Amino acid sequence: MLKAVILIGGPLKGTRFRPLSLDIPKPLFPVAGLPLIQHHIEACIAVTNLKEILIIGFYPVTQLQQFINDMQSQYKVIIKYLQEFTALGTAGGLYHFRDQIRSGSPDAFFVLNGDVCADFPLTELYEFHRERSLTSLMTVMSTEATRQQSLNFGCMVVDKTTQEVTHYVEKPSSYVSTSINCGIYVFSLKIFNFMGETFNIKQEEYYKNDNGNVNKDAGYLQLEQDILTPLAGTGKILALQTTNWWSQLKTANSAIYANRHYLGLYKQKHPERLATGKKAEQCTIIADVHIDPSATIDSTAVIGPNVSIGPDVVIEAGVRIKESIILDSAFIGERSLILHSIIGRNSRVGKWARVEGTPSDPDPNKPFAKMENPKLFNNDGRLNPSITILGCSVSVPSETILLNSIVLPNKELSRSIKNEIIL
Ligand code: GTP
Repeated sequence: MLKAVILIGGPLKGTRFRPLSLDIPKPLFPVAGLPLIQHHIEACIAVTNLKEILIIGFYPVTQLQQFINDMQSQYKVIIKYLQEFTALGTAGGLYHFRDQIRSGSPDAFFVLNGDVCADFPLTELYEFHRERSLTSLMTVMSTEATRQQSLNFGCMVVDKTTQEVTHYVEKPSSYVSTSINCGIYVFSLKIFNFMGETFNIKQEEYYKNDNGNVNKDAGYLQLEQDILTPLAGTGKILALQTTNWWSQLKTANSAIYANRHYLGLYKQKHPERLATGKKAEQCTIIADVHIDPSATIDSTAVIGPNVSIGPDVVIEAGVRIKESIILDSAFIGERSLILHSIIGRNSRVGKWARVEGTPSDPDPNKPFAKMENPKLFNNDGRLNPSITILGCSVSVPSETILLNSIVLPNKELSRSIKNEIIL
């Protein structure tokens, strides 16, 4: 029997995802029509013998309960949310809830960072780990980045013959390796012995140094710095490299990128989730597009490629939408154009409006192309080119243009804007 843990952080994390995470926890933000971590859940349930999924974070239970209930009724595995009393770090929650993870004696358990997006090769990862589990405590999924990109990730030096991780540095200040940590792991239960030792040492240090005054809890443990770094070079961590698509969801820009890739994966795995435009009443579709069945779209609209349209959205005549996510209950008035943008829940775009952003996608022709998640502002303090984002319940008047701008929730715009953040 196998289990999986999805780490989702909490309200103070994911700040680069604002304003999209202001009204919905980031793990529930819909990408390709599904809450972000539902893609993780689907990858987990595809693994034979996976019986339980534990979602660990520090969001209040009330924000996750409906989602957990929906997932429980949709999938035939046990899905639970375990709330940390405060941020315990990427390993602190695993250690705190170790009894829940160990109960029923699973052969191994996966750990998935809730903010990664991927074509998760979990079965392959488990098979690789199982064959070597006598000596190894964990296997980390890795992928190749460029030298420059690697500095933003956990970097691993991997022995090419044994696949052992011989050295691990989280976000190094100078080049270490182009093999980076994907935030996707499989662990043997024995890992808790090592976590326990580390936990005890850190507790001693915490009280000895009077760290009670700092913000972090005494139980705070980081998987990367406190577990991977010291275990590297002991023969107990292995890495399995994947060439599957993988990215992180850090900024709103990366949501459009992930949306496109998840829609692409639907072609093989869930073609029923893609709109075809073949039904007489449907609008013109340029693949790939996901449209929630409850959306109302005029037959003269042209939608796609790479667009997701949420529940209860209304799209009027002659609208054109490309490379965008339209969240639930949004209204797009006739003849408007939406390009490289995210339109928040309940937002209203008037007639003949143009809402446009600039994507910062990696060049697909470059080897190891990865989404960069650029900073909001450049070194001169100017706004970097960005997709356009409307928070929830924003109103855009007819015949206006919004270009490369971010609008916080509940704003009623009265003019065109370019390269601005409307607070
Ligand atoms: P950044 O570039 O700073 O975002 O770092 P990172 O990519 O290494 O991400 P980070 O380590 O902050 O988080 C990795 C995953 O773990 C994300 O899905 C977070 O939501 C989750 N996470 C981070 N801190 C905590 C925590 O204290 N508790 C739990 N349960 N999850 C966490």
